[in-house]
Amino acid sequence: DSVVDFYGVHQAGIQTPPQDHLVLMVFDVTTASASELQVMLAKWSAAMAQYSKGVPVGAVEPDRDQAVPGDTGEAYGMGPNALTLTLGFAPSMFDSRFGWAKYKPAIFSDLPAFASDALTPEFTGGDICIQACAADPQVAYHAIRNLARMARTTATTRYTVQGFGRASAGQGQTTPRNLMGYKDGTRNIKTDDELDQFVWVGNESDQSWMVGGSYLVARKIHMLIETWDADYIADQHAVFGRTKAAGAPLTGTGEFDTPDFAAKGSDGALVIPANAHVALAAHENNGGVKILRRGYNFTDGIDSVGRLDAGLMFLSYQKDPAQFVSIQSRLGASDRLNEYIRHVGSGVFAVPPGLSGAGDYFGKALF
Ligand code: HEM
Repeated sequence: DSVVDFYGVHQAGIQTPPQDHLVLMVFDVTTASASELQVMLAKWSAAMAQYSKGVPVGAVEPDRDQAVPGDTGEAYGMGPNALTLTLGFAPSMFDSRFGWAKYKPAIFSDLPAFASDALTPEFTGGDICIQACAADPQVAYHAIRNLARMARTTATTRYTVQGFGRASAGQGQTTPRNLMGYKDGTRNIKTDDELDQFVWVGNESDQSWMVGGSYLVARKIHMLIETWDADYIADQHAVFGRTKAAGAPLTGTGEFDTPDFAAKGSDGALVIPANAHVALAAHENNGGVKILRRGYNFTDGIDSVGRLDAGLMFLSYQKDPAQFVSIQSRLGASDRLNEYIRHVGSGVFAVPPGLSGAGDYFGKALF
């Protein structure tokens, strides 16, 4: 049973090769008291370290008959299952409530609106985000549930998304598939050098408390599954610019062949259409910008009119939210995929660096 270190220079759950399961929870802070917030963050940080080792916080079965169990128990004896817990603060945390305004990084604010956005308030905004990833869904859920319980009277749950399969590849992993059936994560960031270049906040930051951290963008993207499932295969290939089974670019035969965005067919048209998803998103066509994608497939059952309610819980990490903004500006305006997806939720979070050890806690530098 594998353990991922909770303490370290960077938070776990970013570079960590994506585990199979996700529970994402976004909280609204309800207290107006900075000291209550501080206590909650300190309690959370200590508890997260325990959960990452598979250790409950408080008794599952207290000695006294009248005592309420400290831990809810459903992960008791299950082990750590590579659980990672990753925390981030939304721009709203740096308003006037807690005295944090002076700590707001200059590059950090709410995301702009994008063409083709269909955001709903239920899945947008919030104050604090916790991403739980694990090899077992119950272990991930247990951690989030107990953190939410611990926060009672200080923060409430705004929304939660359960991801049941990774839809991105990390270091040393094979490429999984998203719910459209395509390999997802083929050209993701995979090397330490690229992480330094594109993901970890460095000394360029105007806020020293963010050095070693990153910025998380969370987009709940609904897929119009019925429409997609009725599309013919050549069009599906053109939407992504890749083949389905092999995951190869339309200009190659193997998954890892480098796409040729200039190649033309005998009809004179580009082989990878200019509005194909990968043509618009690729760093070659986007000023060299890359992001670390770490998304998950999700389903919420069926919607109010009986359609499958499912999609991609898109998560990306970058050292500057502008990296996501530049790619999504292009995708939102012209991505051929837009016919089959709707961005229904959105959030951006400043993810501080990792904690140094027991006694350290998220936000410590901000109080
Ligand atoms: C590539 C699917 C949304 C950024 C890909 C690939 C697939 C895919 C199948 C090709 C394989 C790969 O290299 O990973 C999807 C689906 C989405 C979605 C189904 C929505 C439901 C997004 C969003 C962004 C994004 C919102 C960022 C704003 C990228 C990037 C690449 C990529 C940067 C790599 C392109 C390259 O370098 O060739 N995506 N994607 N995707 N996607 Fe998405």
